[in-house]
Amino acid sequence: MTGNFISQLANSVGQLVTLKAWVYNFRSSGSIYFLEARDGTGFIQAVVDKKSVAPAVWNDCQKLTIESSVILTGQVTAHPKKPGVFELQVTELAIVQVAAEYPIGKKEHGPDFLLEHRHLWLRSPRQWAIQRVRNTIINATYQFLNQREFIKIDAPILTPTSCEGTSTLFELDYFDLGKAYLTQSGQLYLEAAIFSHGRVFDFGPVFRAEKSKTRRHLTEFWMMDAEAAFVEHEENMAIQEALVCHLVSQVLAKNQEELLILERDQEPLKKVKPPFYHLTHLEAVKELRKLGSDIKEEDDLGGDDETLLTKQYDKPIFIEKYPASVKAFYMKRDPGDQSRVLCADLLASEGYGEIIGGSQREDDYDTLLSRLKKNNLSVEAFQWYLDLRRYGSVPHSGFGYGLERLVAWLCGLEHVRETIPFPRLINRLYP
Ligand code: 4AD
Ligand code: MG
Repeated sequence: MTGNFISQLANSVGQLVTLKAWVYNFRSSGSIYFLEARDGTGFIQAVVDKKSVAPAVWNDCQKLTIESSVILTGQVTAHPKKPGVFELQVTELAIVQVAAEYPIGKKEHGPDFLLEHRHLWLRSPRQWAIQRVRNTIINATYQFLNQREFIKIDAPILTPTSCEGTSTLFELDYFDLGKAYLTQSGQLYLEAAIFSHGRVFDFGPVFRAEKSKTRRHLTEFWMMDAEAAFVEHEENMAIQEALVCHLVSQVLAKNQEELLILERDQEPLKKVKPPFYHLTHLEAVKELRKLGSDIKEEDDLGGDDETLLTKQYDKPIFIEKYPASVKAFYMKRDPGDQSRVLCADLLASEGYGEIIGGSQREDDYDTLLSRLKKNNLSVEAFQWYLDLRRYGSVPHSGFGYGLERLVAWLCGLEHVRETIPFPRLINRLYP
């Protein structure tokens, strides 16, 4: 027997199995030890009965500390009251290591202490659950896009220019070539790739030197950008809607145990079905002003505005056609109103706010050239990007989601810092 996984014990009831695990908690009643064990795939209570084990096994039990690593052998029994929950009646126990005194206890710790111990905090059931949900979202994204003819194209991380404005760029010296920047989004490179593949996506870390210290901002986060040739504004939103519905339904289907650990109210998630709501930016501003915001017609929505607005709706909302002045240079203007762009931000429900930014792209060479100049961006640096509008230009659109914002929403978390294994914040780089 090479070992079993807790997640697969349903088929082993009555059988002898071996689990390689950590003891994250234990209690003893004098003649019985209850070991709370986890192996990464799940959690189980292992029962060591003094009467039925060798004295050496009982002896080893006394040495156990929280987080000690062990190899447990025993018979699997079904929990008498909880269906789907199993116990292990231990016959053999081998200690791999008796852990040193574990710093994370059962008492409440402040966020700073936990972040300082993130390398250990990752083991707690709640953090375990969050990473499992994240994993589901990642896999479901690949699945959804691959089924719709999108192929994965890896965009570079070191770039010579900005994608989303110059104010949030991380800069570094790049040999004899001057400055390089950590990418803010792979979008521009994906635009090149659609002329080869039609529909593409990337999925990787991006960087924003945002001074913002909010519950939605990280300096390093994971973005999935998708880009498609011959897709215009409306279809772009339809793809996003279908993708988000797929992600939510996959998490509901695959992560029940995790959502229970997180105490996530699932009713709002069950409502995430087409059609989502659509508001133009102007309509959103009007509604926000009624709700007490002082936002103006030419303003971007702030985080508080997004929270206020999404609390009014039971499903995600597309906010369309923002003022061109608050959006990136590459967005195509709305033919019906040149001051607005054919873009949409998708705001998640329950106050979570923006999870996706997307738009139709400017596909006309001369128009794009003049936008670059008006935005004081170097025409030389963007020559390759302009070239895409010279050789078989087509209408095209795309969008990017922030993985951590999605995870925070689906898990019902207060802050994105818990959604990524090692968060990078303006005041945190350790561990
Ligand atoms: O809205 P953004 O800036 O859009 C882009 O970068 C486009 N180039 C994407 C595209 O069209 N391919 O960022 C996309 C998403 C946001 O909606 C948000 O979910 C997330 O990335 N995001 C952040 N997440 C965590 N921390 C930050 N500082 C974030 N900034 C953006
Ligand atoms: Mg955005």
